[in-house]
Amino acid sequence: MKFKTIPAHIAVIMDGNGRWAEAKGKKRSEGHREGAKAIDRLLDVALHFEIKNVSLYAFSTENWKRPLSEIQAIFNLLIEFIDTRLDDIHEKGIRIHHSGNRSKLSNKVLQKIDRAMELTKKNKRLVANFCLNYGGQEEILQSFSKLMSDRKEKKIPLDKAVSPKEFQKYLYTHPLPPVDLLIRTAGEQRVSNFLLWQIAYAEFFFTNTLWPDYGERDLEEALHFFESRKRKFGGLS
Ligand code: IPE
Ligand code: IPE
Ligand code: MG
Repeated sequence: MKFKTIPAHIAVIMDGNGRWAEAKGKKRSEGHREGAKAIDRLLDVALHFEIKNVSLYAFSTENWKRPLSEIQAIFNLLIEFIDTRLDDIHEKGIRIHHSGNRSKLSNKVLQKIDRAMELTKKNKRLVANFCLNYGGQEEILQSFSKLMSDRKEKKIPLDKAVSPKEFQKYLYTHPLPPVDLLIRTAGEQRVSNFLLWQIAYAEFFFTNTLWPDYGERDLEEALHFFESRKRKFGGLS
């Protein structure tokens, strides 16, 4: 299947792992495990359609409110995901990027992420941006503080206007381009603090499919929707 336009950056709020498990009488962690397999499928389809950047919402700054057992299950799965997939991901030419606050992540998780980023840093086919301990508001605040402390160090006046171009360099997602297409699974139609700056002109696509069931057909449906949109960016055509 061919598409006239392919988004340069798709962002996915991978929701519904818990509901998928509950509907099958399984533990929520089983839903997260099955969700990891859907990530494998998504990356393969993204490679197939030559999408260059995929952001995946894996754990939000608000997800710490969940029971400790679930949080541990998610992070164990993440470690397992990197251990079992990294070589394959690297061979396919995928570059791993992390967006999120590192301070609350365990050393073990940080070591795995850092190794994955280091190994894959020269890969050019696709950037897989794992958003882990990520919150859009937190990102904006962190970025702004960092920009201001750099200005202080370089003796640039603190009250000089900040341009979007200058600010964007401090975002966790730098140097990824803005999001063209935001997909959320499992029927919810909200942003849940995801990539607030980067989705300024994104097209939104919502599907009832639960994340563990997400596959090639679902992404094709979203790409069809995307190519049917007339994007104007505030202009007239
Ligand atoms: C998304 O699935 C995965 C994470 C937030 C880590 P959920 O766990 O939110 O699944 P539901 O929304 O309870 O079905
Ligand atoms: C958003 O899903 C976070 C991730 C997919 C990692 P949530 O399930 O946490 O969002 P809410 O609570 O329904 O808004
Ligand atoms: Mg959810």
